Amino acid sequence: MDSILVHGGAELSGQIPIAGAKNACLALMPATLLTDGPLTLTNAPRLSDIRTMTALLQSLGAEVTALQGGRVLALSSHDLTNHLADYDIVRKMRASILVLGPLLARHGHAVVSLPGGCAIGARPVDLHLRALEALGATLELRDGYVHATAPGGLTGGRFAFPFVSVGATENVLMAATLARGTSVIENAAREPEIMDLARCLRRMGARIEGEGTGTLTVEGVDRLEGATHAVVPDRIELGTYMLAPAITGGAVELLGGRRELVAAFADKLEESGIDVAETEAGLKVVRRNGRVKAVDVTTEPFPGFPTDLQAQMMALLCTADGVSVLEEKIFENRFMHAPELMRMGARIDVHGGTARVTGVERLNGAPVMATDLRASVSLILAALAAEGETVVSRVYHLDRGYERVEEKLGACGARIERISA
Ligand code: EPZ
Repeated sequence: MDSILVHGGAELSGQIPIAGAKNACLALMPATLLTDGPLTLTNAPRLSDIRTMTALLQSLGAEVTALQGGRVLALSSHDLTNHLADYDIVRKMRASILVLGPLLARHGHAVVSLPGGCAIGARPVDLHLRALEALGATLELRDGYVHATAPGGLTGGRFAFPFVSVGATENVLMAATLARGTSVIENAAREPEIMDLARCLRRMGARIEGEGTGTLTVEGVDRLEGATHAVVPDRIELGTYMLAPAITGGAVELLGGRRELVAAFADKLEESGIDVAETEAGLKVVRRNGRVKAVDVTTEPFPGFPTDLQAQMMALLCTADGVSVLEEKIFENRFMHAPELMRMGARIDVHGGTARVTGVERLNGAPVMATDLRASVSLILAALAAEGETVVSRVYHLDRGYERVEEKLGACGARIERISA
């Protein structure tokens, strides 16, 4: 298993290109199942999660071809041969559940393995199922699988989410595009990935209104066409690399970055004393002399501070002047990076969903272990600022969501290398 070796202490300066969003691409790819026309996704990220979704779609009989080294994905579901999403693939990646809505909408039945829990929380899929039931699906849970049918096709319905779910909004949105009649989805997620999916579905001929407002209205159509769509930039990769110069000092321009994708996060960075400026090519982040200030952070659905940047922000706050309180409101078990950061000298007290971070002058390098994707990159950020050498092991988590992390940071002066096992 590969690990990443970091010699801390180097200031960063330069430019980092931001890739297409993993979480947008993972929702866009299953949209192929809604049409027999070709769907082409440009600006796709080159990540292991994308390869997992590719394998899942191929197992259903879809054609998925990676072009331009994986930057472009050509998808076609002209001849689907299978409606069963197998446990062996679904257990690797929870986003696999996103094939359920599209399969059901276009073919009237689907069998999809239940994903099970994961490192950051129990993560049930009950909201996905309830929202699809509101569109007339009949669901049965048997042998670890969801057996879903809608023999006469789905029908428009109304569903109000009791709390915001990104994946369940995506699933029901895709399903509603081909349902008979009008669907109204209330308390829908407003994340940029949802907006991107709605834009792509509209290009395919779907009639959707209200994305970004919390209420989605979908007028079902008989069929969708193929389309070409560019994946939105990855706001989490953007936020992660904005933190790199913030933690080490220096100045880095994030090419393709847009402030509206990370507004709540950028506000917090500025509150801590970091400069964030819009440039022609993206966003530029500069840390001037001195320690950053402690700030309090509460994770919330978009447009609030994203849970997917909480671990990385904690790495920064470990060296801030003062005490920061981080509240995690989305997932119940998303502080597993805290004990690893403490191995590097951080002072963190975790009580339930709250972490209290008392900033220290300096972190020290140590061997640490990644427990999930965002935790692993938070350890790399901490290592960039630490004195001495850090080895982050179990980096397969990292490869799920960050492409060429060592190259991107290395190009800005970080002393970082991958050690292949
Ligand atoms: C998406 O997960 C992202 N994944 C996650 O990114 C992200 O952390 C999360 O949204 C929140 O922003 C993808 O887009 C592929 P949710 P998702 O449904 O859709 C509970 C990363 O690091 N819930 O919005 O699975 C759930 O347990 C990842 O890239 C139910 O109770 O998240 C959580 O507490 C990790 N029942 C909350 O809702 C359900 O049926 C929000 O989850 C669905 C969700």
